[in-house]
Amino acid sequence: MPSVGFFVSVEGIDGCGKTTQIRLLVERLAALGVPTLLAQEPGGTATGRLIRSVLLDARNHGIEPMTELLLFFASRAQNLAEVIRPALDAGQVVVCDRFTDASVAYQGYGRGLGAASVQQLSEVACGDLQPDLTLWLDIEPAAALARAGKRESGGSAGRDRMESEALEFFLRVREGYAHTHADQPQRIRRIAADGSVSEVFDRVMAAVFPALEARGFVVRSN
Ligand code: TYD
Repeated sequence: MPSVGFFVSVEGIDGCGKTTQIRLLVERLAALGVPTLLAQEPGGTATGRLIRSVLLDARNHGIEPMTELLLFFASRAQNLAEVIRPALDAGQVVVCDRFTDASVAYQGYGRGLGAASVQQLSEVACGDLQPDLTLWLDIEPAAALARAGKRESGGSAGRDRMESEALEFFLRVREGYAHTHADQPQRIRRIAADGSVSEVFDRVMAAVFPALEARGFVVRSN
């Protein structure tokens, strides 16, 4: 059943600047009076936060790729039932910090499980629900790792289990996003994530605003 709300997901490799851009986007939508809900994956619910801690604990070395994939979908199923579907049914704009495209990119390509098995699982866990619009903040993995390194200012102590992966892993993840983008260019918009925060945010709004306008959520004032 099509939802009455509008579902936006934001994607990209670790260090692409997603968190900052999502915060700015949610603030801007609130300022425009758009009923907006921020959702997060993995996490977003009490159950999801427990699953998230298993997934991201850097001491959790032995986790199998398939276990990892199933846990991301377990968190997603809970988030869908508890947070995302009710908000969409209530007519809200849901901005989701990652969704199934992350599983295709990270587990399908990064871990080598293949996009097809992730898609099968998505059909079981999410039915036909997918974002109306996905913003892929694209950046060179080497540049993203350099950013993350600066943020930590010394050592890898603060890195979670996924962030501790090597450059080759993030090159595969990026390739995964590129494939999905090539398959569904209407839904997934590539946003160049290099440049200043405000330059990238202008690109984000240039992608989001017309889509919201077309659905009647915002009205152009000039
Ligand atoms: P996230 O909370 O978005 O991390 P950050 O805000 O630091 O970018 O995601 C946590 C990690 O989980 C991130 O490395 C991406 C990874 N991830 C997957 O591997 N598969 C998934 O399906 C999702 C949602 C996230």
